[in-house]
Amino acid sequence: MPSIVVIGSQYGDEGKGKVVDLLGEKADLVVRFSGGNNAGHTVVVKGVKYKFHLMPSGAIQGKRCCIAAGVALDPRVLKQELDQLKGKFEFSLVIDPRVQIIMPWHNMLDATSEEAKGKQRIGTTGRGIGPCYADRADRTGIRFAELVDEARFMERLDAVFSIKEKTLKAVYNSGMQISKDEIFREYRALGRELKQYLGDVSVEVTDALSQGKTVMFEGAQGTYLDIDFGTYPFVTSSHPISGSIFTGVGFGLRPIERVIGIVKAYTTRVGGGPFVTELEGDLAHTIREQGAEYGTTTGRPRRVGWLDLVLLRTAQRLNNFTEIALTKLDVLSGLDEIEICTEYKLNRETVRERPADIKDIMKCRPVYKKFRGFKLEGKLESFDQLPKEAKEYVQFIEKELNVPVKIVSIGPGREETIFR
Ligand code: GTP
Ligand code: IMP
Ligand code: MG
Repeated sequence: MPSIVVIGSQYGDEGKGKVVDLLGEKADLVVRFSGGNNAGHTVVVKGVKYKFHLMPSGAIQGKRCCIAAGVALDPRVLKQELDQLKGKFEFSLVIDPRVQIIMPWHNMLDATSEEAKGKQRIGTTGRGIGPCYADRADRTGIRFAELVDEARFMERLDAVFSIKEKTLKAVYNSGMQISKDEIFREYRALGRELKQYLGDVSVEVTDALSQGKTVMFEGAQGTYLDIDFGTYPFVTSSHPISGSIFTGVGFGLRPIERVIGIVKAYTTRVGGGPFVTELEGDLAHTIREQGAEYGTTTGRPRRVGWLDLVLLRTAQRLNNFTEIALTKLDVLSGLDEIEICTEYKLNRETVRERPADIKDIMKCRPVYKKFRGFKLEGKLESFDQLPKEAKEYVQFIEKELNVPVKIVSIGPGREETIFR
């Protein structure tokens, strides 16, 4: 099984970290191809929690980890994660020279631009992701190859610093809170430390695939945070959908054996933007608390709602999942009744796929099918051992989406997983 892609099918935080960790055992390479430290993956091994923002979750399996060209990398954050992992896990790391570096002004611009947007604010993670990708497109970005080469870094810093200083002042009436000299010293040290990881991920992954090795592509965020296909402008600035492995890593189109869609058994969203099946009140509170639905990166309470099949049908079209991993089924345990949104009403019309325009999505009302609740109790090791109502819930999803649910996750630990 040479290529495995793990993709969030909803708004992120579906539990990709756990699935990558589980299946990573069989992988030769684990590759991050988009996003940055806006992501927060939590992996629980033998009761110990590990949180990653940038490092591929394969690190704790001692894998060769790759950070590919499509990633926005904050070297301060990477250094912290490496310091936590070193000595505990025997992984190796390679970072592509083309990776864009998140600089201090990106964090400042993220904060000031959110403030300036007022009611239209996106609710970003504040990690500088948008401004960093904007600079990539503007060609004022600094790449990893430049960070690790002192003379080139100085040259780029000279060219970019004054532009950013002027932008912060002129557009946002805000100052640069750090001097060019301070940045130079701090980032030179980071560059020196990280230089050992420089390597062409595009070449490494292509070679590995040609040799029949198993490569796992670890998605970050979710389908509806995609900059083009998500709920724009309430999206992130990268492409979390499956097709972006080709441009994010740099290899030509080829068949991909497994595209695993991670589907949370209900829906959550952090930040602003439409959420058709959103719940409020006691029920939302219960699900949020049972599922510990607080952001891994920012600690914000996640908005919660019922599972949305309209959203998932379109996610299936955008990603072409070969299978689904259904996570957090245990969180629904104990509820008397569970609902699934099967279609939307848009004015008088019935809608079964997501409208392309956010204006229409805002007007959509959910149509629900009710399911009897279930209780997950005792040691559950196979699908057959699940209560009848839980099986019905899972089987309804796979029938509606026409994709097999091959993994059912019933807790954060590795052992709390049912394979089918
Ligand atoms: P992003 O890249 O930020 O989108 O995150 P992610 O998809 O890796 O998910 P994240 O780790 O942010 O959130 C999932 C949370 O649910 C973590 O705390 C996991 O430990 C936990 N988790 C994963 N699977 C299950 C499960 O089946 N049941 C329960 N109760 N928790 C789970
Ligand atoms: P940004 O990526 O920080 O610019 O944030 C843009 C939007 O994407 C906000 O709504 C964030 O809450 C959301 N977002 C970004 N990364 C994640 C993630 O990993 N999980 C869930 N939401 C995310
Ligand atoms: Mg997360």
